[in-house]
Amino acid sequence: MTVGLVEPQARVDVSKMPRHVAIIMDGNGRWAAERGLPRAEGHRAGVEALRRTLRSVGDLRIPYLTIYSFSSENWSRPESEVSELMALLRRFIRNDLAEIHSNNVRIRIIGSRNGLDPQILSLLREAEELTQDNDGQTLVVAFNYGARNEIITAIQGLAARVASGQVKPADIDERLVSDALDTAGIPEPDLLIRTGGEQRLSNFLLWQCAYTEFVFLPLHWPDFDRAALIGAICEYQARERRFGSLAARSNE
Ligand code: FPP
Repeated sequence: MTVGLVEPQARVDVSKMPRHVAIIMDGNGRWAAERGLPRAEGHRAGVEALRRTLRSVGDLRIPYLTIYSFSSENWSRPESEVSELMALLRRFIRNDLAEIHSNNVRIRIIGSRNGLDPQILSLLREAEELTQDNDGQTLVVAFNYGARNEIITAIQGLAARVASGQVKPADIDERLVSDALDTAGIPEPDLLIRTGGEQRLSNFLLWQCAYTEFVFLPLHWPDFDRAALIGAICEYQARERRFGSLAARSNE
């Protein structure tokens, strides 16, 4: 079954929609540089692209969207840029939280809370608490996130449970590890989209993306729109997912 959504040539098969799309929103700085603008303008345009994407993901009824909004490595950027990104996050939560909540979207934040500014911490908490009972879609915001750190923290938690005798080393399996990660209870991404032309994971969801389909787009994040999302979904739907076996498995 196919349905034409916006562009008649881009046909999405609604019976094979990804349940979880993860996005690395890259290319804001280059988008700005190409226009002779400061990098901050690229990030501001990136927030607009995020708003468009939330609407499209809502229209397409994709249950989970994860966005990489600030990596644990982004602290090494110039202080002025870090401040701008923090200010954008604060403004995004203040301006958009009510609408996200009214759309029955639950917000989950993944990443480390250690050392975060108290104002940011309380906004993150407010976003999670306000939306915790929403049962429509889930927006997962990776903030101060790094997958290796997430895995180390999970290992420390499991090691503590082994030391206290609650868990035997041989009982540690994929399920226990998954449940010890920040993403516990969230299905693994089916489709990961990275804009900006780079073809790498950059410490994003390393465990969770074991069988994820990757789509790398040359366009910069501020130029990402509904047509680009639909194009990426069509590419995902054309792929054969085998999960290590020989037989193709459907993308449902
Ligand atoms: C990568 O572009 C993007 C980021 C480091 C941050 C992404 C943030 C936003 C889209 C806006 C803030 C998000 C929220 C939730 C308010 P880059 O700067 O690395 O681009 P470049 O590779 O061209 O330099």
